[in-house]
Amino acid sequence: MKVTPFSLERFFSKTEFNVRYHLAASAIQAWSLRELLCLANDPDLQFSLFATRLGYTEPEGIPELRQEITRLYSNPTDPDHVFVTSGAIEANYLLLNSLLEPGDRFIVQTPYYQQLSQVGIDLGATALLWHYREDKGFDIHEFMDLLDQKPALVMLNTPHNPTGFVFSPNEMRQIAEVCLEREIYLLSDEVYRELGETLLPSMRDYSSQAVSIGSMSKSYGLAGLRVGWMMGPPEIIARCATKRDYTSLCSPALGQHLALTALKHRTKIWDRNRQLRLRNITLLEKAFKEDPTLRWQKSEAGVVAWVSYSTKIPSEQLGRELHRRGVLVAPGIFFGEEGHFRLGFGGNSPELEAGLAIMMDYFKQN
Ligand SMILES: Cc1ncc(COP(=O)(O)O)c(C=O)c1O
Repeated sequence: MKVTPFSLERFFSKTEFNVRYHLAASAIQAWSLRELLCLANDPDLQFSLFATRLGYTEPEGIPELRQEITRLYSNPTDPDHVFVTSGAIEANYLLLNSLLEPGDRFIVQTPYYQQLSQVGIDLGATALLWHYREDKGFDIHEFMDLLDQKPALVMLNTPHNPTGFVFSPNEMRQIAEVCLEREIYLLSDEVYRELGETLLPSMRDYSSQAVSIGSMSKSYGLAGLRVGWMMGPPEIIARCATKRDYTSLCSPALGQHLALTALKHRTKIWDRNRQLRLRNITLLEKAFKEDPTLRWQKSEAGVVAWVSYSTKIPSEQLGRELHRRGVLVAPGIFFGEEGHFRLGFGGNSPELEAGLAIMMDYFKQN
């Protein structure tokens, strides 16, 4: 199968481990293992973690973790509807590979997290782009118009990377209903769902046929566990399981046990992460006030902001120039659009403030 390079990841591989101020990440600041264990505040926990067998686990995930994941969804759901994967990236990959055929059409939002459009395109399907509008976000009428082209699948991302846009419950209901009615597969990448002011609705609330994709990476700050999941109809999970035997076999045993610990203490994790997010949004608002040529929409959830700039410079070059000054942002071209960059604001606040100062100074001079 053809594999087009994941341009953002290729760029990061050369830039993100040698930069002073990383303002490009899409996750909330990572927790250390010590912090996670302290938060759980259970003297027996260390011993039970030490006893974890470091072998393979059940391909669909350890039963306790699958059970705990069901608690994130409001409709009572059987653990059979949960399939634990090595990050949301594996869940998306398996789903798109299992459900799309060459010649199919699928709807995907743009700007996009490249995986969500690229995997389908590489499979020989055609992407029908649903464009973000600065004044109204993703307009549901444009979505309805795209349906005329008879897509086999909708690949949604809400809360959205890179804009921070969130669909209203009413819009989610409309999308779910029309997909059910027309028998269109509905995939919803919801990796930022826990990182709004409250736990946001899931497409699973509106359709028993939808697949929700979740992760410990973005909202929890535990990307190193490499644990994600899909929650959806068992028939779809079974198709993905067949493919998964060729990718990772199962998610890391230790990662799954730590994910279970984190989910059991999720409200404490959410509180810390949400506070950090709000504090950092204030820093962004303050910084952007200084330069009206930089435009951004305040993210409704998640820790990424989509910033448009007026300097006539390609976004990749902008990324490299800022990198030389010690600041990393994610060039817009890697999300399919020039004249923009994505700013990740989930990190440590003093570092964010210092990095923003350098960035604003750059725009003042250029
Ligand atoms: C929208 C979206 N989905 C999935 C992923 C992959 O996340 P994970 O670390 O869970 O594999 C990312 C990572 O940036 C993302 O932004």
